[in-house]
Amino acid sequence: MADSEEVSPANDPGNPPVRRLEAWDAPSLRGLVEEYDTPLYVLDIDRVRENARRLESAFPDAEILYAAKANALGAVLETLLSAGVGIECASAGELERALAAGASGSEVHYTAVNPPGRDLDLAVSRAEEYPDLTIIAGAQDTIDRLEDRGYDGRLGLRVNPGIGAGHHEKVRTGSDAKFGVPSDRAVETLADAAERGFDVVGIHAHVGSGVSADALEDHREFVARMGELAREVESEVGDLEFLDVGGGFGVPYRAEEGPLDVAAVAEATREAVGEVGARLTIEPGRYFLADAGVLLTRVNTVKEAPEATVVGVDAGMTTLLRPAMYDAYHPVRNVSADAGERERRPQTITGPICESSDVFCEGRELPESDRGDLLAIGNAGAYGYEMASQYNSRPRPASVALEGGEVRLTRSREAIADVTRPERTAGNRGG
Ligand code: LLP
Repeated sequence: MADSEEVSPANDPGNPPVRRLEAWDAPSLRGLVEEYDTPLYVLDIDRVRENARRLESAFPDAEILYAAKANALGAVLETLLSAGVGIECASAGELERALAAGASGSEVHYTAVNPPGRDLDLAVSRAEEYPDLTIIAGAQDTIDRLEDRGYDGRLGLRVNPGIGAGHHEKVRTGSDAKFGVPSDRAVETLADAAERGFDVVGIHAHVGSGVSADALEDHREFVARMGELAREVESEVGDLEFLDVGGGFGVPYRAEEGPLDVAAVAEATREAVGEVGARLTIEPGRYFLADAGVLLTRVNTVKEAPEATVVGVDAGMTTLLRPAMYDAYHPVRNVSADAGERERRPQTITGPICESSDVFCEGRELPESDRGDLLAIGNAGAYGYEMASQYNSRPRPASVALEGGEVRLTRSREAIADVTRPERTAGNRGG
């Protein structure tokens, strides 16, 4: 077999690097809606496993963690744990969910970002039960607060690399002072922590989320700096177990964007990191989940306005926040049976929330919409349900998982009574 034909993670025909919205089977999606109604999140667990397999074959020597914030559904955490992937948790809630999904202590990193005291209390008490659990602190203050709680276990330090990247300014954490200790203070911070009895095990940084293939040079520069820092820490403080370069692996949302070549990213990472004793760790979230999920929504209103054809659907910014929050593009497809025969025309798809930002897309060329049509919004597996809210007193949607040809309900649809429950349990009347 010639070199160019070798099966690499980027060209394995059994595991395509991207799954586009067109690849979802429209009749099956319509069947799901008959049973579970809309709005409905659909997650293909087999695809999550494929994405994990591709990453693992690109990074065979690295430790791979899944950033649970992309989608903390138990079925996702269990799937990834059984595929040999650990879990990166951003909160006490995610930590509880990772342990409930069966993670061992050594499979869990808790990355504390300005952690509320309640989160630290829980993390420290869990660390007593699971002493292999690692806590990553992003401020001297957090280390002091851990010490106050009697913690002297496994500690990693999040550093601020001073390089940010990502699909939107709101997700470029690497250049945001909120995250991590400035890298020029990392060695003294870790030396001090080691002196105070902590078990210093690693360093960590994350530049941002949704980093595209054309940012490979920035990635190289970032990893090279982290490699340099790891060497400094190893010579001045002691051996490190891991060097965690975060997540951020981008996925294509638009048809004209190609998939990230994870093999090339892995190669660039290995080269840039140089000689270090610590094991490389990565912690993507989006990459595992984005193309494994779609959001199904029904058209309820079609309105011809002078400026646009406005198509109102029953999902909104409370169901999928990304377009409103980041101007994010998500593919939309009309999956009604006869959609292919209809004329295409520009349409604006909006939700039922009383906010002008409640728009999924503007002027998008789609088959003419009719009331009752079913639309699928693609790449909704990551940061979809997870960012849903109850704003406008809207119950959150249901979600189902597909696995090995079976369908199962993974989250029931909330009712209005779920929205008002905290009010009632506080002794008020509520709705
Ligand atoms: N590690 C850390 C420390 C992070 O803060 C994040 C994401 C990740 C890993 C995973 O990044 P990923 O591989 O998923 O890009 N809601 C935004 C994304 C915010 C990400 C925040 N941190 C969105 O919908 O685009």
